[in-house]
Amino acid sequence: MNVKPDFSNSANQAATAPAFLSVWDLHAYYGESYIVQGVSFNVHEGEILALLGRNGAGKTSTLRAIARLGNPELRHGEIWLDHQPLHSMTSYQAASVGLGLVPEDRRIIPGLTVEENLQLAQIAPPIGWSIDRIYELFPRLGERRKQEGVTLSGGEQQMLAIGRALCRDIKVLLLDEPYEGLAPVIVDEIEKTLIKIKELGITTVIVEQNAVRALELSDRAVILDTGSVVFDGSAAEVLENEELRAEYLAI
Ligand SMILES: Nc1ncnc2c1ncn2[C@@H]1O[C@H](COP(=O)(O)OP(=O)(O)OP(=O)(O)O)[C@@H](O)[C@H]1O
Ligand SMILES: [Mg+2]
Repeated sequence: MNVKPDFSNSANQAATAPAFLSVWDLHAYYGESYIVQGVSFNVHEGEILALLGRNGAGKTSTLRAIARLGNPELRHGEIWLDHQPLHSMTSYQAASVGLGLVPEDRRIIPGLTVEENLQLAQIAPPIGWSIDRIYELFPRLGERRKQEGVTLSGGEQQMLAIGRALCRDIKVLLLDEPYEGLAPVIVDEIEKTLIKIKELGITTVIVEQNAVRALELSDRAVILDTGSVVFDGSAAEVLENEELRAEYLAI
């Protein structure tokens, strides 16, 4: 698993074809706090990967490092998205080559309507879905287009946050706890949308405390513990393996 992606030998590409999103040996720090301690995993194009682990395992920090947010600071490692070296980019550049992060707090902009929140996401290229297409995916957002975004319910705000990511031309969607605080019926609704997004070919990494729901949705799973990968395999394998779940997920 800890193999550095090698793009040098194109003649041999079938044997060495890199994953769509390849995270290799990430080490990241908050000041002197060493948090992400050599994380590596691959995500294949079009799949959903669940990134799981207990509280404080380093899931959010790993997503932030991939999105190049600067905090935590990435001091070592490589991140390749569709042959683009994210590790040598700023967060702005990473977003412009197709990295879409939906953070846990959703970041809906106060004072703006639903529609204005979506329009703002389209202010700079690369522009993704049209706003009408976002409303097709999330009819509730269309119904509330004139409403101030921050007054939406939690589920609707999550839809708006995902919609806003899709307004950009993204290749990978990173979701940090999209189900947090939502009623099961709303989780069902968001899950259906994530399946639709997958069918449209977008690759997704989902971080969730609700590990069972995330695993049921996902093709594969990576489990983190104290900033390191302790499992990398199929989602079904985690669902079936009670020992693994008890040890690293407390479920
Ligand atoms: N801004 C920060 N400064 C210093 N340490 C931080 C900061 N953010 C997180 N940490 C520490 O980094 C470790 C990993 O945190 P992180 O938020 O990545 O975990 P997580 O797996 O997302 O947890 P949770 O399930 O609670 O969201 C924790 O020990 C946390 O206290
Ligand atoms: Mg977190």
